Amino acid sequence: MEILGIDIGGTGIKGALVNTDNGALTTERFRVDTPPEATPEAVALVARQITRHFDWHGPLGCTIPARVEHGVVHTAANIHENWIETRVDELLTGATGCRTHCLNDADAAGVASVAFGAGRGRMGVVFFVTVGTGIGTALFTDQHLVPNTELGHLPLRGGAAEDWASSRIRKEEALSWEAWAARFQEYLDLLEFLFAPDTIILGGGVSRPEKVALYRHFLETEAELVIAELENEAGIIGAAWSAGQHL
Ligand code: BGC
Repeated sequence: MEILGIDIGGTGIKGALVNTDNGALTTERFRVDTPPEATPEAVALVARQITRHFDWHGPLGCTIPARVEHGVVHTAANIHENWIETRVDELLTGATGCRTHCLNDADAAGVASVAFGAGRGRMGVVFFVTVGTGIGTALFTDQHLVPNTELGHLPLRGGAAEDWASSRIRKEEALSWEAWAARFQEYLDLLEFLFAPDTIILGGGVSRPEKVALYRHFLETEAELVIAELENEAGIIGAAWSAGQHL
């Protein structure tokens, strides 16, 4: 089945058609800059622009960097505060004319990994951790997603973990890769203490091979630590796949 996946990020909103049987993109990605005031209405207009670009009228899957329960957004850590309590499935269905299912961005990247990437076939407790502007997490037990874990907000060093160990912080504080890895190691230790996962999959910008070479050797975990394979297509693929399951 072919479904349009859209991934809403802090700097770009990207879409592509996805074959949900094998997770392959069937078109080039189309990217639009995230509006400076990324209110729900402004983002909905971009979603419409993307559906028009593909002349798409079929089902739409979309990621949101927030907690999304039954089509309603409940948090807004790194997005415009007007998102809170937005009925996002309805909003995007209305704006695009496409039946829409939305889910958390880390959950989307995680389901893509479990269905088609490094998480395929991995049983037990699996954490997908995506590191970018924030830290997002997706928790799986025997391949089933426990949605909206939001463990980038675990308390660490007197604040939220993502305000200590995200890529945004690494850049803002001009941390060396070794110094960032030491912070991220503390975060992984906390996840391991709380959940004893069998596998941790690292996704987001830090999963690019040229980046991995700069920090991987500083990290040590009890769990098997693997690097995600789908890089920045994972959100699009997971959004489309999840829409296929729900619509
Ligand atoms: C948000 C999560 C999101 C993560 C990664 C966090 O700030 O609360 O919902 O998954 O950033 O984008």
